[in-house]
Amino acid sequence: MTPKRIVAELERYIIGQDKAKKMVAIALRNRYRRSRLSPQDREEITPKNIIMKGPTGVGKTEIARRLAKLVKAPFLKVEATKYTEVGYVGRDVESMIRDLVDVSIRLVKDERFKEVYEKAQQIAIDKVADILTKNESNLPPDISKAQLKDELYKHNLDHLAISIVLEQPPKPIQLQPGSGAEINLGSIFGNAIPKQKKIKNTTVGEAIELITSQESERLIDMDNVHAEAIKRAENDGIIFIDEVDKIAGKSNHNGPDVSREGVQRDILPIVEGCTVSTKHGNVKTDYILFIASGAFQVSKVSDLIPELQGRFPVLVELNSLTKDDFVRILVEPDNAITTQYKKLLAVDNIDLQFTPDGINEIALVAEEENATNEDIGARRLQSIMEHIVEDISFDVDEGVFKTVVIDKQYVSENFKNDKSRNLKKYIL
Ligand SMILES: Nc1ncnc2c1ncn2[C@@H]1O[C@H](COP(=O)(O)OP(=O)(O)OP(=O)(O)O)[C@@H](O)[C@H]1O
Ligand SMILES: [Mg+2]
Repeated sequence: MTPKRIVAELERYIIGQDKAKKMVAIALRNRYRRSRLSPQDREEITPKNIIMKGPTGVGKTEIARRLAKLVKAPFLKVEATKYTEVGYVGRDVESMIRDLVDVSIRLVKDERFKEVYEKAQQIAIDKVADILTKNESNLPPDISKAQLKDELYKHNLDHLAISIVLEQPPKPIQLQPGSGAEINLGSIFGNAIPKQKKIKNTTVGEAIELITSQESERLIDMDNVHAEAIKRAENDGIIFIDEVDKIAGKSNHNGPDVSREGVQRDILPIVEGCTVSTKHGNVKTDYILFIASGAFQVSKVSDLIPELQGRFPVLVELNSLTKDDFVRILVEPDNAITTQYKKLLAVDNIDLQFTPDGINEIALVAEEENATNEDIGARRLQSIMEHIVEDISFDVDEGVFKTVVIDKQYVSENFKNDKSRNLKKYIL
């Protein structure tokens, strides 16, 4: 995908924040550009990590979430605060790399599964057909094997009962609870340990699915999957570290700050490039793209230890959202909040309609509230909407159809009476 395409895709969900969208799109494209180079050149080029800074509720995490869905690269989002814990300095920061590898394995495995699906399904259908013919009480009379398979293939016999024998893979044993390191006895002793078998009574439809996935596991070469997964994690992996501002702060006192700085120091080598061992092999972190994000309202970017700042050469600032942004956020994204409420209430036969001046008024209220109380960005819209539809949502009668039009008057009346004026109570 070209950077323009990526931005266009993000545009479907995120309003404004053009700079941030542009920078992540460029970073993604650079991955692709690098992959086209000769191995020598590739080695020299490391990603330019990004810091996204901006007030709360303006789309930082949202950009990451959408990006994750968009790219087929291994993508992991972690909260930096996960690694701080008073008393533990730098608690297993390397686990983020292991998690990334797990994501990558799932990705590669899914692809391989798709490749072998047809073959595995064929095997499953053959097996189910064999079982059914052996025990033909359920079958239509005079059906040939070929016809039977054909019927199975078309899902026409999915409802029949069947009992199948499934192999239970031995459960992996965790070496140290919580460490993520585990050992799979089955894979060490191969077939020396007899696989446990289990008889399962089910329907033909489910049986075909179960056997298909069991056969798929057999058809794909897991060692190869792991090797490919590690390669992809190393070269295409993206780690989004959210809430980095929460680990910033000068540590001139003791207490939690010590552990925060510890986490920064632990993250340092990973961002800089080091080798992390995982149960599937070693992972070099040099070419993983890191995107850090935080509100940086209490602490500043410059409160991060300088070494870490240096590893994030690209700083993007996201802007506060304005009334016009709110208007667009309310209606434009594919998952726009007004659409969500329409769909929800349609279940109860309520046809919820928003007029343009109604939307405008909601945006106005949001801007006002953000100015007078805390600025919580687009999250404000959710609390306002919840408040507006409160009565409509509550007042439903079984089976009665009605139409509710939310216009300017409806909104302003909703916010006129005193009890509702104070929106604070709707916000944690
Ligand atoms: N620019 C935007 N376009 C569309 N929706 C947005 C935008 N900004 C925020 N939102 C909506 O607001 C919600 C909160 O945004 P998000 O989680 O991205 O905040 P954030 O910037 O990560 O804030 P924090 O610093 O508190 O983590 C999202 O679920 C999203 O629906
Ligand atoms: Mg966030």
